[in-house]
Parts: sequence; C-alpha cells; structure tokens
Amino acid sequence: MLPPSGLFLAGLALFSGLVESTILQNGQVRETSFKNTAVDIGAFSLKTYPPNATEISYQGRWDSKYVSWWSAPGLKFGYTGSQVAITFGRSTSPGVLVGYRIAGLDWQFTNVTGGQTHMLIGPDSPGVDLTGPINPMTFELRVTNWAFGIQIEAVHVGEGQKLVKLPNAPRRIEVIGDSLAAGMYTSYEGLSSWAYGVGAGLGNTDYSITAYPGICAADQDCWGNPRGQVHQWFYTSDTSWRATEAHGNNPEPWDFSKHPAADLVIINIGTNDQNSHNNVSAPVYIDALTKIVQGVHGKYPKAQVVVMSLWLGFSQTGNTYASVSSQGFVKEVQNMIRMFNSDKYLNNPTVYDGVTKTSSQTNKKTKPFVHLFNTTGILQHNDIAPQWHPTDVGAIKVASHLLQFIKMTFGWELEATGPEVFHETLYWNDEPSY
Ligand SMILES: *[C@@H]1O[C@H](CO)[C@@H](O)[C@H](O)[C@H]1NC(C)=O
Ligand SMILES: *[C@@H]1O[C@H](CO)[C@@H](O)[C@H](O)[C@H]1NC(C)=O
Ligand SMILES: *[C@@H]1O[C@H](CO)[C@@H](O)[C@H](O)[C@H]1NC(C)=O
Ligand SMILES: *[C@@H]1O[C@H](CO)[C@@H](O)[C@H](O)[C@H]1NC(C)=O
Repeated sequence: MLPPSGLFLAGLALFSGLVESTILQNGQVRETSFKNTAVDIGAFSLKTYPPNATEISYQGRWDSKYVSWWSAPGLKFGYTGSQVAITFGRSTSPGVLVGYRIAGLDWQFTNVTGGQTHMLIGPDSPGVDLTGPINPMTFELRVTNWAFGIQIEAVHVGEGQKLVKLPNAPRRIEVIGDSLAAGMYTSYEGLSSWAYGVGAGLGNTDYSITAYPGICAADQDCWGNPRGQVHQWFYTSDTSWRATEAHGNNPEPWDFSKHPAADLVIINIGTNDQNSHNNVSAPVYIDALTKIVQGVHGKYPKAQVVVMSLWLGFSQTGNTYASVSSQGFVKEVQNMIRMFNSDKYLNNPTVYDGVTKTSSQTNKKTKPFVHLFNTTGILQHNDIAPQWHPTDVGAIKVASHLLQFIKMTFGWELEATGPEVFHETLYWNDEPSY
C-alpha cells in the first residue's frame, strides 16, 4: 500500500534537502544533515542590498571584492521580518560549508556555491520568531574552513523589511596563528577552534582569526605556504592557492586605518618554525616573532599582546601519557618577553611594518603590553588527536583556560553565558544507576 501522497512527498522533499558530508569522527563518517538552502530567487519578493551596504558588519578579513580570507571570517547584521537570503559571488569556493545562526542560538550548516542565492533564514527557521533578549534580531555567518572562502554579491530580506546596522562590539580581539588556531582537524574547523571559543566565550567581543595551517612566523616557505606571518599578517588575504589565484604576487595590504583596532591580540605561532622539516633557526624565528609583536604594536598601539607557548603533541610515554607541550624555543620566547618588558624597550619601543619592511622607534613610552600564556598542562589524554591537533574537547579546554587567563590578567568579564556554542559537542549520560 502506498502512503498518503502528502506524507510521501513531504518525506521525499526532506530527503532531497539533505546532502551527504564526509566529516570524519574517529575514522567514521559523521552523520550530518546540512540543509540544501539554494533557491530560485525569482520565486520570492525580496528587498536586496549590495555587498557594500553599511548595515553589513564584516568580521575577519575581506578584500575589496567582498571575498573572505583566513579562518572563520564572517558577517553580522540585524534584520526585520522572517527571511534572510544571500547571493554568493563567483569567487565563492564551490560547495563551501558555512555556519550561520540567529542571535546566540546553535549553528546551522549549509554548503553554498557561487552564482546561487541561498535562503538561510525562512519562516521555518528555529528561533525566527523570538525577538529577545537579543534585539534587533541578528544574523551571523562564518566560513568553517580556512582555505575556502565566500564572496558576497547581495543580501536579501523580505519585501518591506530591512537590514539593521549593529554597533561594533565594545571589545575586539585578534588571534594570529597557524593550524592550531585555525581549527584544523576539529569537527567544524574554524567554528570548533579554540580561537572561536575565546571570541564567542568572551561575549560582546568582535573577533578575527588571522591563522592559516602550516604557516611559519618566519618569512619563508613552510609546508607550501609561500610566506610567513611576519609578512602575511599585514595583508588581507592568506597564503592559500586560492589567494595566489586571486591576487598573484600582489595581495591587497590590509588597511588597518579602515578597521577598528584590536584591544587584545593572541599570538600562537612557531610550531611550524620549530619543525625540522622547515629548517627555521631559533634566531630567525625569534626575529620574526619579535617583528610580529612590533607590527601589532605599530598597528594597534593600545593593544595587549598574549604570546602562547608552543605545544607539540601527545603520546603514551612508558606507563602513562604525556602531552609534549611547551616545547620549542622555550628559552628564546622567555628572553623575548623579558626584552619587551625591559625599561630600555618600554621607554622607546620599536614598531614594524611588514609591507614596507621597516622598523622604527616610536620615542613614545609605553606600559608593559606583552604577556606569556603558558600552555603546559592544559592538554592531556584525549585532548590532542592522532594528527597532532586539539580534539574538539582539547580546543574547548584551550579556549576555557585562555578565557580565565584573560579575565584574571586584564579584568575582562566573561559576558557571554550561553552563545559560545561548539556545535555537536554535546554528549551526556541519562542512565542514573548501573
Ligand atoms: C558540504 O561541506 C562538507 C564539509 O566541507 C563536505 O564534506 C561535503 O562534501 C559538502 N557537500 C556538498 C554537497 O558539497
Ligand atoms: C556601493 O557601491 C556602489 C557601486 O559601486 C556605489 O554607487 C555606492 O555609493 C556604494 N555605497 C556605499 C554605501 O558605499
Ligand atoms: C638548514 O639551514 C642550515 C643553516 O641555515 C643550512 O646550512 C642547511 O643547508 C639547511 N638545510 C636544508 C635541508 O635546507
Ligand atoms: C611553562 O611552564 C612549564 C612548567 O611550569 C615550564 O617548564 C616551561 O618552561 C614554561 N614555558 C615557558 C615558555 O615559560
């Protein structure tokens, strides 16, 4: 007997709305249900905004063609009504996975493609009719993968509805790093990274993650990244093949004057310099790291800088487990931080510009602004995956320890009490006695 046709069609529609994914979990395919959000825009009456609409707040680094770069770049805006759609430009990586959400709710995921319009919020979206406590209704989107990106061609809301500009958050952080900060090998990559966790966990904080897997601090080829952070941090795009294809040897310098300064910069870079494959000597590494800190001080004179000690891996050691952390350039990093905090330096700090490649003294006294965050002892059994990167839980631990460090060192209150959502990390037991 055939099922009633309505039921059958509903089932079919639901089935065709799901796409297969290959996120792996302990070597097995993780079950996901990414909604197919592509629509025929002609079927809707919408109000359309161009990508340069002042109501759209871009997060992270975007170039002059509204193409996103680095890890977990995104956008945010307020809106009215019950529809939000985005038309993606041709420079969008085909099928790239993006996370998006209403206000502080859980992330939803969908694969998007250039030249298509995706209806991301519709009347059936969870939370679409909840108007508080976050008001106006806000939409946030982040690209999950560092190497891929999106291009915004247009943003649409329902006919007669509008976008609402959100104020910049009162606090702003930036994370400069490599694969560890970019979220490599965590379930939802950038959106499962500790860097995301710090940004979202602080609350009322805009965050930008200038991190790319394999990159060194030193300006040399590391694992195929043509440049190091001492150069690339000063540019809009990252070191991916996508960037080379888009900008060749002429990337757009990042216009720091057009973007609010970060208040706090967290630097976790050097694991690739430390790897003998890349053959970076300690003096070359420290010179690059020093210039990155001086670059940050030049671009964001009021920012505090946290340098994280390196962690390198995890293994069984004899009859216990040991995370091989805080190794790599330990003495050199300590000496560098001592130098930054010396009276001699603070009385006349040096700033560095990675585009002109010039160092200059400021003749402006400054208070100590460089801090060491020692990662020893944070990551333990199960916190580092076989590929030598934090597991989802490991990333949450790094984020949590950093959040507490930031609170205790700088007096920043943790203003989020919920929206730091690490999608699909909830597992629990509801059997009380066994
Ligand atoms: C959607 O994105 C995920 C993560 O990148 C990927 O594994 C999957 O193949 C994509 N699906 C489609 C249909 O492109
Ligand atoms: C957006 O770009 C268009 C086309 O280049 C231009 O006419 C318009 O003035 C820009 N709007 C804003 C707010 O910059
Ligand atoms: C590594 O660097 C040292 C010193 O700079 C150099 O002599 C050596 O040839 C390099 N090795 C490789 C494999 O590039
Ligand atoms: C971090 O702490 C460990 C243990 O206290 C210590 O051995 C290590 O030298 C410290 N690392 C740095 C970079 O100071």
